[in-house]
This record gives sequence, structure tokens and C-alpha cells, in this order.
Amino acid sequence: MSDTSLPVAVRIVEVGPRDGLQNEKTIIPAATKIELIDRLSATGLRTIEATSFVSPKWVPQLADAAEVFAGIAKKPGVAYPVLVPNLQGYERARAVGAREVAIFTAASEAFNRKNINASIDESIERFVPVLEQARADGVSVRGYVSTVLGCPYQGEVPVADVVRVARRLHELGCYEVSLGDTIGIGTPGKARAMLRAVTAEVPMDALAVHFHDTRGQALANILACLEEGVSVVDSAVSGTGGCPYAKGATGNVATEDVVYMLEGLGIATGIDLPALVETGLWLSAQLGRETGSRVARAGI
Ligand code: HMG
Ligand code: MG
Repeated sequence: MSDTSLPVAVRIVEVGPRDGLQNEKTIIPAATKIELIDRLSATGLRTIEATSFVSPKWVPQLADAAEVFAGIAKKPGVAYPVLVPNLQGYERARAVGAREVAIFTAASEAFNRKNINASIDESIERFVPVLEQARADGVSVRGYVSTVLGCPYQGEVPVADVVRVARRLHELGCYEVSLGDTIGIGTPGKARAMLRAVTAEVPMDALAVHFHDTRGQALANILACLEEGVSVVDSAVSGTGGCPYAKGATGNVATEDVVYMLEGLGIATGIDLPALVETGLWLSAQLGRETGSRVARAGI
């Protein structure tokens, strides 16, 4: 039985194949990425962000996005969203049959400029045709707001800026807006207050949280947000990840650790934890380093 103040079930958005790998310096073969996604879909995950149709000059690691997306075994009942920064990315994604895309901007001007070479308003203007085309094509669109708890270039980010951008993405038609602590700088009280402010403008069931674990605060932040009522959590198997354009960003919270915490709280995820741990260990062996999951290191 779960505590009544917590959601009874949580949907995890696995971002390992995209956020997890985008910052890897050594190019990983497309076949390894495909195997990773197929292994993940066998664990019971229902949403797996597969890759990113951004400029290959900006993110060389994901230049094989089309090959990877075309190569994965699309499991019925599993969504495979992909990141797109503009209409060009959307068209590349559609050409290989993507049914869901994610657009991304930030609450901080300085970060957005470094990440996608646009102001916040310019980036939102760029998304308008993407959203229009997606609506016409019956494609679902998720939205990301980065730097919701702090920016590596600007420092503090006013909560009002987070609320404004999240509301705009929702109004434009994003079915879900993921609030990203890009550099893992937030703490639970701040995360809770930020989420509460956003829910004054965007319904809780249209929100997700996305924590990087740079300062070891991610699980505590997730718990604070679950207590506020959020029921969608982004994470990356083996704790991989980080944005190449966010100075000091490290890995996402590990999916294994999130599932372990949720199971301990009696919250259903539908994920086979031993299979997920095995997949994370397999990935860390492919990357030639120790897993970032504390649960995997301890053994379950
Ligand atoms: P730009 O240089 O200003 O773009 O980059 P442009 O429109 O001037 O185009 C320049 C060149 O890129 C042109 O090619 C375009 O064709 C090409 P050229 O004529 O020079 O040969 N191009 C593309 N090629 C393929 N696919 C495309 C595409 N678009 C343009 N979609 C741009 C602007 C947005 C493209 C660039 O800044 C970019 O791709 N940025 C992506 C950065 C990125 O991927 N960051 C990581 C993801 S965000 C993240 O990790 C945060 C998140 O996890 C949440 C959190 O943690 O907070 C989501
Ligand atoms: Mg991220």
C-alpha cells in the first residue's frame, strides 16, 4: 500500500539512449544503441526517448539518429519519443516514422543561447510550425524546460520565468512539460516550491520532473515532487547523461535507483528491476566504466 499523499503509480520516461548518450565523447555504434533500446523495452518501460534529431555538428554522438530509430524493434504499447530542435529535425524524425517528438527550451536566456543558439522567445517561435505540423500528422509533442532550478551561466533562475515558459509550451499543445534541473543544482524545498508555482498555471497531470544528480540531490528532489503529486519522472539507466552545452552537468538520476525507491514506497512502475539492473550493467560495460546506479553497485 502506498502512502495516500503519494501517487499510486508512476510512469518513468527513460532518457538514457538520448540524454544518457549525447555527451559521450567516443562514438558508440548504432547497433549498441539499438540493442540498448530493445533491452530497455523488454524491462517494462513504457516510454523510451530513443535519440535526438538535432544538428549532427552540435551533437555528433547522435548523428546516427535515423539509423537508430529505424533499427529498434517497436514494441506495442511503448512510446519512443525523439528530440527535435526545429522543423528540419521534425521532418528527419518523421521520415523514419517517429510518432512522438520532444521540443526543448529553457527558463534561462543564457543557457538557451548556448544550447540551441536562440533566445527563449525565438526558440518558441521555431516550435510553432513543429507543433502545427505535429497536430496535422497526429504526432504527440512533449516539451522540456531546462535550468528550472539554476543556470550554469546566469546563476539563479526566477521561478516566474519557469512558470512562463512551461505555460507557453502547454498552451502551444505539449501534452506534457518536463521540468529539467539540467545541472543538478536544486534541493528538495526549492524543487517543491518551483513545482507548486508551475502547477498554478499547468495541471499536475501535464507535468514531469527531470533531475540530474550532479550534487546527489536527485532522489530527494523526486520524493519532494512526488509528495506534491507529480507522477511522471525522467531518468537514465546506469545514471548516464548530461547536456554538452551545460557546463558542469553530470548524469541523470539512475532509473534503477528511482525504481528501487518507488518500489520501496509501494508505488507501481511496471518495471522489472532485476532486468533493468542487468541492462544498466551491460551498458556500463559497453561504455567501459562503472555504473552510476547505486542500486546496481550494491546488488539487489
Ligand atoms: P544553428 O547553427 O543556429 O542552426 O543551430 P542553423 O539553423 O543556422 O543551421 C546550421 C546548420 O545545421 C545547417 O547546416 C542546418 O542544415 C543544420 P549547414 O548548412 O551548415 O550544412 N541543421 C540541422 N541538421 C540536422 N538536423 C537538424 C538541424 N537543424 C539545423 N535538426 C540548432 C541551431 C538548434 C540546430 C543547434 O543549436 C542544435 O542542434 N542544438 C542541439 C543541442 C542539444 O542537442 N543539446 C542537448 C539536448 S537539450 C538537453 O540535454 C536538456 C534536457 O535533457 C533537459 C534538461 O536536462 O534540462 C532536454
Ligand atoms: Mg537532461
